[in-house]
Amino acid sequence: MATVLVTGGAGFIGSHLVDRLLENGHTVVVIDDLSGGCRENINPDAIFVEGSILDYDLLKQLFETYNFDYVFHLAAYAAEGLSHFIKRFVYSNNLLGSVNLINLAVMHDIKCFVFSSSIAVYGAGQLPMSEDMTPHPEDSYAISKYAVELELDASHRMFGLNHIIFRPHNVYGERQNTGDAYRNVIGIFMNQILQNRPVTIFGDGNQTRAFSHVSDVAPIMADAIDNMRAYNQAFNIGADNHCSIKDLLKIIASEMEANPEITILEERCEVKDAVSDHGKLRSCFDLPAPLPLEEGIRRMAYWIKSVGPRQTVKFKELEISRNLPSAWA
Ligand SMILES: NC(=O)c1ccc[n+]([C@@H]2O[C@H](COP(=O)([O-])OP(=O)(O)OC[C@H]3O[C@@H](n4cnc5c(N)ncnc54)[C@H](O)[C@@H]3O)[C@@H](O)[C@H]2O)c1
Repeated sequence: MATVLVTGGAGFIGSHLVDRLLENGHTVVVIDDLSGGCRENINPDAIFVEGSILDYDLLKQLFETYNFDYVFHLAAYAAEGLSHFIKRFVYSNNLLGSVNLINLAVMHDIKCFVFSSSIAVYGAGQLPMSEDMTPHPEDSYAISKYAVELELDASHRMFGLNHIIFRPHNVYGERQNTGDAYRNVIGIFMNQILQNRPVTIFGDGNQTRAFSHVSDVAPIMADAIDNMRAYNQAFNIGADNHCSIKDLLKIIASEMEANPEITILEERCEVKDAVSDHGKLRSCFDLPAPLPLEEGIRRMAYWIKSVGPRQTVKFKELEISRNLPSAWA
């Protein structure tokens, strides 16, 4: 069995990934600065280190102490839309933090570095998004993700560091940060309903997304280290079936037995229909039948009712305020 480092393991996808790695018999060390995740998410069988991936001395110490076989890198500030307004922070946290880990992974001969990138790397104009396209990222979050992908390619060519890149999209489920003001539409709707506030929709609500329950994503990522065919490749990961935001709200309202008021906000600059291709993932992994959206939302609604509403937290230090959507001001 292996010793594995998971960055962002107190977060949503990371904590489910940790559960699966532990089930698979691995020793798991989590590093998380708790900026987006929380202690309650962390499996008690994991070794938890509270700290930042920007703290190079701490990372060095961890690599020396635990002699990791694999690294799963999920720590990031992932509010894509907001990233235009906090560029310096995003490049520092998401790009330089990743480079710290890649340096150490090279020096410690890690067997494989698994990176949670994003479908955002493709940019808006390319549909359906497939792995043979050249990405054209359009915001600082996506640019930072793509830069890390390129760095992993370069580190493979230069130093032989193996990697697997996953590009997830619209993952939802239990332990999601429902207090994030900028992302996770399902969590935002559920949180607003629990607080008896109107549910806020950007534009007409006809934009569509394919939502994946975390149980269809995290285990595949965790098991990938044993699939040598996946090494040094990038994979889209997520659901195929699309749902409009309006229809999504109907399902959520029904599962939460609520009849919320709706507030329409001005349309955001966002992709109308995010369509991605998962043929490559299917050809390389044995995928179980996906959890139906209604069932996934039922599970998440049950969970959120048990933990209660969460205070919505806004990002404190905007670097640019020009063109900021009014709902975020
Ligand atoms: N959820 C999605 O739909 C989705 C889609 C595409 C990509 N991703 C990517 O998957 C990863 C996990 O996403 P998530 O939805 O679980 O987000 P999340 O916010 O729940 O998890 C990220 C974790 O990283 C931690 N973190 C952030 N900066 C850190 C730092 N400097 N040092 C240590 N820890 C730090 C946060 O505290 C949090 O626990 C992210 O890299 C995200 O970009 C997620």
